[in-house]
Amino acid sequence: QKNINILAIESSCDETAAAVICNEKIASNVIASQSIHEIYGGVVPELASRAHQQKIVPIVSQALKSANLTKEALHAVAFTRGPGLLGALLIGACFAKSLALGLGIPLVAVHHMHAHVLANFIEDPQPTFPFLCLTISGGHTQLVLVNSYTSMQLIGQTQDDAVGEAFDKIAKIMNFSYPGGPFIDHYAQQGNPHRFDFPTTIMPGLDFSFSGIKTAFLYFIRNNIQKNSNFIAEYQADICASIQHTLIKMLLSKVKKAMAYTGLNKLALAGGVAANKGLRQAINQMAAEKGWQLFIPATEYCTDNAAMIAMAAHYQYLANDFANVKTNVLPNMPI
Ligand code: KG4
Ligand code: ZN
Repeated sequence: QKNINILAIESSCDETAAAVICNEKIASNVIASQSIHEIYGGVVPELASRAHQQKIVPIVSQALKSANLTKEALHAVAFTRGPGLLGALLIGACFAKSLALGLGIPLVAVHHMHAHVLANFIEDPQPTFPFLCLTISGGHTQLVLVNSYTSMQLIGQTQDDAVGEAFDKIAKIMNFSYPGGPFIDHYAQQGNPHRFDFPTTIMPGLDFSFSGIKTAFLYFIRNNIQKNSNFIAEYQADICASIQHTLIKMLLSKVKKAMAYTGLNKLALAGGVAANKGLRQAINQMAAEKGWQLFIPATEYCTDNAAMIAMAAHYQYLANDFANVKTNVLPNMPI
C-alpha cells in the first residue's frame, strides 16, 4: 500500500484550520482562531466567513510547509461538509474543491461530528470498537455508539441548547468574554461546588436539556445582585464551581445510563467541553469506580481542529468514500 497524503480543511465555525495526514499519522496541524467574536459574546456568522476567507490560503500553505510536502504530493483534499455555519463551511468547501480540481485528485467530504469522535485516534491510547462517545461542544451534546471508523449511531442528544452553549451563556451572564467555558473552568477550581444549588431538567431516556438551567442561572444572578450589587465578584469562584458541578452532574447521569443501556465498558470524550478540567476529573473518577476504560483526546484535539478532519478523511479514503464538485455543504448535517 502506497503512502496516502491528505490535506484537510476545517472551517465550520470560528477556527480556520488545516492539517496534513500521511498514512494515519498527523504530519502538521495548523489553526487560526478568530478573536473578533470575543466582544460580541458569540460567533457572528458573517464575520466568521470573512475571517476564513482571509486566513485560508496562509493556513493551508503553512500546513503543507510544516508537513514538508508540496501540494503535488497530495493524494486527496478533505473539507468539513457540516454541520456548521453555511458561509463558513462554503469557504472551506470551495477552496478544497478548487485545489482538488486543479491538482486532479479526489475530494473527501467529512462530517464534523464524526471527526470529533475520531480525534480519539490521533494519539495513543486508542479505543477499540465498539465504544460509547460523549461528544460535547458549543453546538452539540451527543451520545454516540461508535461501531467503526465510519459507522456511528446517535443514541441520545440535547433537545435544546448544547452544554457548551450553556457554559458560554452562563459565562456571558457573569460578564466573561466569549467563549466563556474556559473561564468558568478556571475559577471553578478554587470554588466550593456545593455552595449554591441549581434546579436541573432531567429528560427521559438518553436525551439532555440545558436551556432551563441557563434561565434558572439568569434569575439566580438577578435576585442576588438585587440584594448585593457586588455578588458576582464576591462569590465568583463558588458560583463557577457550583454551576459547573451541576452541568457535569447532568452529563454524567446520562453517561451512566447510556453505558448500562449499551452494556459497553469503553467510554470516550470529544468536543471542546471535554477540555473542562472538572469534567475530566469527575469522569475519571466515575470510570475508575465502574471499571470503564476511558479515552480523552489532548485538549488541542478536543476543540475544533483540522487534525480530526484529516483522521476522518483518511478512513473515508480507505473506504472509497469520495465527494465531487457537486457535493454541497450541509449546515444541519444529521449524524
Ligand atoms: O468543539 P468546539 O471547539 O467547537 C464547536 O464545534 O462548537 O467547542 C467549543 C465549546 C465552547 O462552548 C467552549 O466554551 C467550550 O467548548 N469549552 C469549554 C472549555 N474549553 C472549551 N467549556 C468548559 N470548560 C472548558 N475548559
Ligand atoms: Zn466542533
